[in-house]
Amino acid sequence: MLSEREIVERFLDLKLQVHPDVVTYIKEGRDTCLVDRIIRGLPENAVVVSREHIPDLKAERDGTRFLTDPELEIITGGAGSSRGISGFEDSLHYFRDRYNRLSTMIRSRHTAMPVEALLKSPGKYRDQECGITGLVLNVRGTSNGHRLVEVEDSTGSVQVLFNKKKEDLFADAERIVPDEVIGVRGKVSNDGGLFFADTLVRPDIPFNHAPFTSDIPGKAVLISDVHVGSDTFLEESWSRFADWLQDSDDVGYLLIAGDLVDGIGVYPGQEQELVIKNIHEQYDAFGTMLRDLPSRLQIIISPGNHDVVVRGAEPQPALPPKFTGSFPANCVMVENPCLVSLQGVRVLMYHGRSIDDLISMIPGAAYTQGGDIMVEMLMRRHLAPTYGKRTPIAAAKEDRLVIDPIPEIFHTGHIHICGMRKYRGVLCVNTGTWQSQTSFQKRMNIQPTPARATLVDLQTLEPKIIDFT
Ligand SMILES: [Fe+2]
Repeated sequence: MLSEREIVERFLDLKLQVHPDVVTYIKEGRDTCLVDRIIRGLPENAVVVSREHIPDLKAERDGTRFLTDPELEIITGGAGSSRGISGFEDSLHYFRDRYNRLSTMIRSRHTAMPVEALLKSPGKYRDQECGITGLVLNVRGTSNGHRLVEVEDSTGSVQVLFNKKKEDLFADAERIVPDEVIGVRGKVSNDGGLFFADTLVRPDIPFNHAPFTSDIPGKAVLISDVHVGSDTFLEESWSRFADWLQDSDDVGYLLIAGDLVDGIGVYPGQEQELVIKNIHEQYDAFGTMLRDLPSRLQIIISPGNHDVVVRGAEPQPALPPKFTGSFPANCVMVENPCLVSLQGVRVLMYHGRSIDDLISMIPGAAYTQGGDIMVEMLMRRHLAPTYGKRTPIAAAKEDRLVIDPIPEIFHTGHIHICGMRKYRGVLCVNTGTWQSQTSFQKRMNIQPTPARATLVDLQTLEPKIIDFT
């Protein structure tokens, strides 16, 4: 099997650059002739080898969506869909459900054997490459600078060693976080005490995933983190945004991914930074703003961690009617996260609390590169992989934070800095905020990118950021 470097070098020898996706595809495919077949099929003027140059790669759309699709459909996360939580039993079911669903996604690209069978007779397997799939129990560095990852499936657990000398693999292994589900290929040690990793497989977005696009014209506007009630809420910018919406007849949908208001008691000393100190009045003011927007819009609203009138644990329930009395009739309250379909185009809305956790664990991750963190979530097919850090998770019987099905658009907020990436056909957008720099952000030296809206054309999935500062 070729390593990433060997694949890149094969193309470089011919003065060709190669897209990282293509490298991954070749590596995962284990078809040693594929590089030659790609090279043979390249047009003469090719400079960069990309997905379209891979022979026989058929784009795959999961399920068919037709013109008859309703304009707006809440697929998961409609109001009232999250149930309560009850103790230990559910957290057991929760991780079992996570493991079952994510390991199924890995299965098409990776054959795994039960850990128990491997450890029972290591002598039998020690000379052959084996595969395992499991939930990561913990991750640590060894005194020699290698990475040791404890992986558990339903039969047992094993310590997996990622050798620092296998550079590409080690770089991937450094990004392994607790509670994600991974597949590993490698060899077991003589005594069964260690599993030496050669390849790491994540659930990921299939390489040949082709996003659905709407057959009829339509545009959606994505925003988040309005923070009404805060003294740093940008009222004038919002008015410009509202005026622009009045004039933009082609926009049919407005999606707001949490932190609608600033809330009360979210952080110490918040009281001094509020211009509206009553939570009901904060939502009423937000409702007034929504009533000023064109009634042709369908407005989809999910909560964030500042919307303290619902529980903080995810999935967060939809805002209850008690607080939305002043909202106009064209608003739909949904949970955080939720999956909505706009003319067949699926949008995964998630406020993004777990971005904090992922940034603290993934080397090189930064708040200024929110799109990259969203890609990390897509690769793990999970919105909040690590349990028990800053993101509270309600461990119900079903893991609603698994990313399934694959959305066309992945929408987050929370970090107040716009970010965008396209990954295997999925458009990832972090939509920033409507609040200028807060005193907390000043102390932390965080520069927000406020007063921007992201406009997405549902026929092309092309995004455009519009600045209202
Ligand atoms: Fe926020």
